[in-house]
Amino acid sequence: MSYQEQLWWRHAVIYQIYPRSFKDSNGDGIGDLQGIVQQLDYLEWLGVQAVWLSPIYQSPMADFGYDISDYTEIHPIFGQMQDLEVLLEELHKRDMKLILDLVPNHTSDQHPWFIESKSSKESPKRSWYIWADTKPNGAPPNNWLSVFGGSAWEWDENTGQYYYHAFLKEQPDLNWRNEEVQEAMLDVMQFWLEKGVDGFRVDVMWHLIKDKQLRDNPINPDFHESEATYNRLLPVYSTDQQEVHELVAKMRDLMEQYEERVLIGEIYLPIKKLVAYYGINESGAHLPFNFQLLTLPWEAQQIAVAIDEYEGAIPANGWPNWVLSNHDKPRIASRVGGQQAKVAAFLLLTLRGTPTIYYGDEIGMYDVPIPIQEVQDPQGLNMPGKNLSRDPARTPMQWSNAEFAGFSTAKPWLRVDKRFKRENVAIQKNNPYSMLSLYRKLIKLRNEEPTLQYGNYVPVFSNEQLIIYKRELVNHPSFVIALNLTPRPAYFTQQGESRLKGQVVVATSPEMEGHFLEEEIDLGGDEALIIRLE
Ligand code: GLC
Repeated sequence: MSYQEQLWWRHAVIYQIYPRSFKDSNGDGIGDLQGIVQQLDYLEWLGVQAVWLSPIYQSPMADFGYDISDYTEIHPIFGQMQDLEVLLEELHKRDMKLILDLVPNHTSDQHPWFIESKSSKESPKRSWYIWADTKPNGAPPNNWLSVFGGSAWEWDENTGQYYYHAFLKEQPDLNWRNEEVQEAMLDVMQFWLEKGVDGFRVDVMWHLIKDKQLRDNPINPDFHESEATYNRLLPVYSTDQQEVHELVAKMRDLMEQYEERVLIGEIYLPIKKLVAYYGINESGAHLPFNFQLLTLPWEAQQIAVAIDEYEGAIPANGWPNWVLSNHDKPRIASRVGGQQAKVAAFLLLTLRGTPTIYYGDEIGMYDVPIPIQEVQDPQGLNMPGKNLSRDPARTPMQWSNAEFAGFSTAKPWLRVDKRFKRENVAIQKNNPYSMLSLYRKLIKLRNEEPTLQYGNYVPVFSNEQLIIYKRELVNHPSFVIALNLTPRPAYFTQQGESRLKGQVVVATSPEMEGHFLEEEIDLGGDEALIIRLE
């Protein structure tokens, strides 16, 4: 397959929008669909080609939209169906794609399916959810824990059984062993595919199906009290069951009936288990999200090893992908610092595979401290004192130095970073040294150079400071990417036959751009370079 024939989701840069926090068009302090439409010129200017929206569906908002009560209606906070259609149209006009979040593992407890299921043991929808009896000693059906703290079982007084919820009790898990459930969710997917959406990001894909016998999870011997209580057990029986791959294959089958749609899976698993989600003979997700840059310590040697391990583990026709931040984890700038966040941008945008940018990372947004009395995230509220709230990474986008950072005309649902007057899109646009200028340059180069989109990844060198690799594509220039993951200077000399010779095309210090390098690369602290080889 030549590079021209490659599919859009292999070369596109994906941009994740957390709709509540991107842009408010109607002055209620909460972002909405029309707000996103207003900013499409910005996204086009930035150079991204696809947008993934966190959920915009009807929801009681117990988990800010990840608790859905109607999969085919838009929540009025975000707008109406027509707004979604306008967004889709406006994106397509710009040759951009729309990826929606799909949350098939659980519904809201307010979804009519659950209300029906809960109504009696004889309900035709009883087996749409996971109901189980008390143990003879009065204990819940097993020891499984909720990701958001406490037991994963909730007692229903009315029918005298427990139901399972991997997340909040307001998010009961669907029973994917039931074929009616499978069909209902495939119908939901079909509804959106028919509307023309270009793909789905499937929420907690590895949770979809659970052990049939509901066996107890084993104790995690490495648990530390500071962690989320969920980590007390190893989720051996409650997640990543072999049968999940058959379910993903059914989703993939449906996607294949449409042209060039993408199936992305949210999966937090070690590499070996993660790559199983590509499926046998391409029957799985197109892109099982690869969260290594989000979870590994920022340490050159470890990251270099992980890149190689991942490259080696991907099946023959599988395509890699990379992520630095998302709405569930601390932002990259807060994890590694502002200078290293630039180096991270080089990694994200020059490694082989589809990159996903989390809104705001392109202007170097930090996690924003949220005072206890303002915490909104249920994960933070349910496990106080563990610093697990996800609010800090979900604060309003900083557009300008206007009031509320130009995000809204009213007080936003979460406070804006107090540094917004210095750090915002309007200011950074005009500064060649800004994070935004760097992101734009990196994306532009990537969009222009087939080597960076499709070329091979060739590791060159790594030590405790440096990661150096090459991208190569037949009949196209090769690139060397040199990254210093520390604040100290670092030196690299290419030895042997394949001498390094070329011009710096993008650098953390724009002064370096245009410089000619031969054999040696001297990197300042926190410096990164892309060199086009002769
Ligand atoms: C996923 C989402 C997260 C949500 C959870 C439950 O991990 O990314 O935001 O809380 O699923 O739906």
